[in-house]
Amino acid sequence: MRKFLVISVLALTAAVALGAQDLVPGPGKPVADGVVAAGEYALVRELSGMKLHLSLSADGKTLGVGLVAPTKGWVAVGLGSRVMDGAFMVLAFDAGGKPSVSEQRGAGRSHSPLTGSVLGASAVKEAGESTTLEFSVPLSGLVAGGKLGLVLAYGTADNFTSRHAARVGAELGVKP
Ligand code: HEM
Repeated sequence: MRKFLVISVLALTAAVALGAQDLVPGPGKPVADGVVAAGEYALVRELSGMKLHLSLSADGKTLGVGLVAPTKGWVAVGLGSRVMDGAFMVLAFDAGGKPSVSEQRGAGRSHSPLTGSVLGASAVKEAGESTTLEFSVPLSGLVAGGKLGLVLAYGTADNFTSRHAARVGAELGVKP
């Protein structure tokens, strides 16, 4: 059965009008190597200066995520919430070729590392003035009421503690 994901993006203060976008489960398998190739993902959207790439596996169970942000510092994607609070977050930075990726849980306007890991694969790579984070993750447990919340952010330092230079909340409708 074909499944459809409809993305709509909401800001806290104003809706960001990106238009409806369907993501159909497909055979494409993004490779989490820190480089987003042309056509690697089924969907790409620009949000607050960041490029978000998404794909859904053929069985609809695995989400592939790629985020390209205009920074040499940290980049992050949160899932399961469109605010920091409650989001499953993947934060990452590439310090001169030394990659760090951390799975965290947002709490209020903070976040802290998770003890376990749910990521399938992940990579972060800085190239020029940009940093790219790629990972795959099971969709299960991240969707509530047919919707997947997303938070994206980046900062300018190579750490997991400094505040964002830009951030945005989004919402992805999952429609089987
Ligand atoms: C130590 C790191 C962080 C600090 C100190 C921090 C702090 C804050 C603060 C004070 C706000 C409210 C003011 C504002 O809108 O800018 C906020 C909002 C926001 N942050 Fe963060 N943040 C951090 C990390 C992150 C990360 C990793 C993400 C995404 C994965 C994120 C996404 C957002 C979003 C989407 C909002 C607006 C919605 C909300 O209020 O939750 N933040 N953050």
